Amino acid sequence: MTDLAAAAGSGADPVEQGINLPAPSMAGAKSLEDALAHRRSVREFAPGALTLAEVSQLMWAAQGVTAPERRTAPSAGATYPLEVYLVVGKIEGLGAGVYRYLPLPHRLEALADGDIRVPLAIAAVDQQWMSQAAMVVVFAAMFERTTVRYGQRAERYVHMETGHAAQNLLLQAAALGLGATPAGAFNDAEVSRLLHLPVGEVPLYFIPVGRASR
Ligand SMILES: Cc1cc2nc3c(=O)[nH]c(=O)nc-3n(C[C@H](O)[C@H](O)[C@H](O)COP(=O)(O)O)c2cc1C
Repeated sequence: MTDLAAAAGSGADPVEQGINLPAPSMAGAKSLEDALAHRRSVREFAPGALTLAEVSQLMWAAQGVTAPERRTAPSAGATYPLEVYLVVGKIEGLGAGVYRYLPLPHRLEALADGDIRVPLAIAAVDQQWMSQAAMVVVFAAMFERTTVRYGQRAERYVHMETGHAAQNLLLQAAALGLGATPAGAFNDAEVSRLLHLPVGEVPLYFIPVGRASR
């Protein structure tokens, strides 16, 4: 694995620095109605790790490719401004570190080694419960992809789209019996620094995910 800043700057080949996710299931045990009825914000987590199959399902729900140049979540003008980062603590078969989801190959690109859940929770106005989640999913956006087509109005479109993708992930977590909570309270500059976000990318939404403690 390389340092994220180096990887971002070098255009390093993600095929050599990541992991293929297993194919997502298209037939879950729970109905959509069941997931809607039982989704709840969960901030207490059991210590168990997530499986790669669960991570695959969550990433697919958030931004998976379902048709040529189309994804699970709608996008204004199909401009797809979102980037999904995983701040990993405890996932079977995956070292602690920072990863980025690549929708088309359904892969995780490894960006940096090391567990940064605690500093990330501190950057989120010290919401310490986040550091107990197996992983924290961070939605970020490259606004330029959408502003180039829609100008000023793109700002609201990107926020709307983030909500779509986040809700997909939250419902998938509920369907898998996992605990998750959306979180918008964090220091943008500090999160950008911790994740070494490229210039022009803005962090918008966190979703810590873990095994529900009850
Ligand atoms: C835009 C948004 C931002 C939120 N930010 C936080 C947050 O920073 N920390 C937190 O613990 N919960 C956060 N929440 C979760 C809400 O507190 C939670 O959804 C609300 O209490 C309703 O509970 P429920 O999700 O179980 O239905 C946020 C929710 C939304 C929609």
